[in-house]
Amino acid sequence: MYDVLGVGCNAVDYLCPMDRYPIEDEKMQVERIEMQGGGNVATALVAVARLGGRAAFHTVIAADHNTEGILASFKREKVNTDHLIIKDGNNPLAVILINRSIGSRTIMYSKRNVPTFQPDEIHGELIQHAKVLLIDFYFPEASLTASKIARSLHIPVVVDAEKPSPLAGQILGNCTHVIASRGFVLHFTGMDQNTDEHALLEEFSLRLESPFVCITFGERGALAIDRATNRTFRQEAFKVDTVDSTGAGDVFHGAFAYFLSREFTLEKATLYAAACAACKCRQIGGRSGIPTLDELEQFMEEYTD
Ligand SMILES: Nc1ncnc2c1ncn2[C@@H]1O[C@H](COP(=O)(O)OP(=O)(O)OP(=O)(O)O)[C@@H](O)[C@H]1O
Ligand SMILES: [Mg+2]
Repeated sequence: MYDVLGVGCNAVDYLCPMDRYPIEDEKMQVERIEMQGGGNVATALVAVARLGGRAAFHTVIAADHNTEGILASFKREKVNTDHLIIKDGNNPLAVILINRSIGSRTIMYSKRNVPTFQPDEIHGELIQHAKVLLIDFYFPEASLTASKIARSLHIPVVVDAEKPSPLAGQILGNCTHVIASRGFVLHFTGMDQNTDEHALLEEFSLRLESPFVCITFGERGALAIDRATNRTFRQEAFKVDTVDSTGAGDVFHGAFAYFLSREFTLEKATLYAAACAACKCRQIGGRSGIPTLDELEQFMEEYTD
């Protein structure tokens, strides 16, 4: 049995921390360029495993010079890789410019030669062995199939709705717990950039059947609605010395999915997800700052003191 089974993106991130942006055509020496694993669901599953959950990844990985490193990192993190499918092609790459002075990250990524995950490659029986399914929109057809199967089995589906996709509406229709970034919601609803956060959540949730709908607003936190009680609640972001917010959203989703599998209330799962994402922001890259459960609890204790 897995606490969280993930279907979605795995990537290789090249992280480049700097104190100011380069100007065009400049040759700028930086202190270091670091490689870390990335990808929404991949990083979310690392968060699940660090927190002590049983995480498994069902996705397509390309056979290139990064494959060995990718598999070794999942092994180290105790993310199960028995259900990875390895195909010819290249793994997605991202170059991330981190402006340490404000903790922002600017991401350029390529999907060149990335093999696809076909819906008929989804291992239906595997989904039965998951308490929670976590998906993103990287392989939309595969995510749609996986989400349909999970729904037919009454398994909760958490989705990281971040990048617009033509299948978004259909996929969201199968998701019980929708956690979307502000940018996605603006695109999906067609609402104006200046729309108030409550109005955005109301409009977005009106278009969905999901029992839980949440929008994340970066360091402005998250706003969520529990449809069972019709209660809207805000989860402030924890204030930390942010050096890099890369992967904060991924970690938020992973932690939320894990605490949902542990049957935390929606408020408590959201609180822990925000704390986990904030811990991550204190270090460079999507993966290095992800806390263990002990570290997370210690962080929350210190924070509330
Ligand atoms: N600078 C920050 N400090 C503390 N918490 C943060 C910060 N940035 C993000 N978070 C936490 O992570 C959550 C998700 O972040 P965000 O809305 O930026 O996700 P995103 O848009 O999907 O971005 P990405 O997936 O690229 O990290 C926020 O609601 C907040 O709780
Ligand atoms: Mg995100």
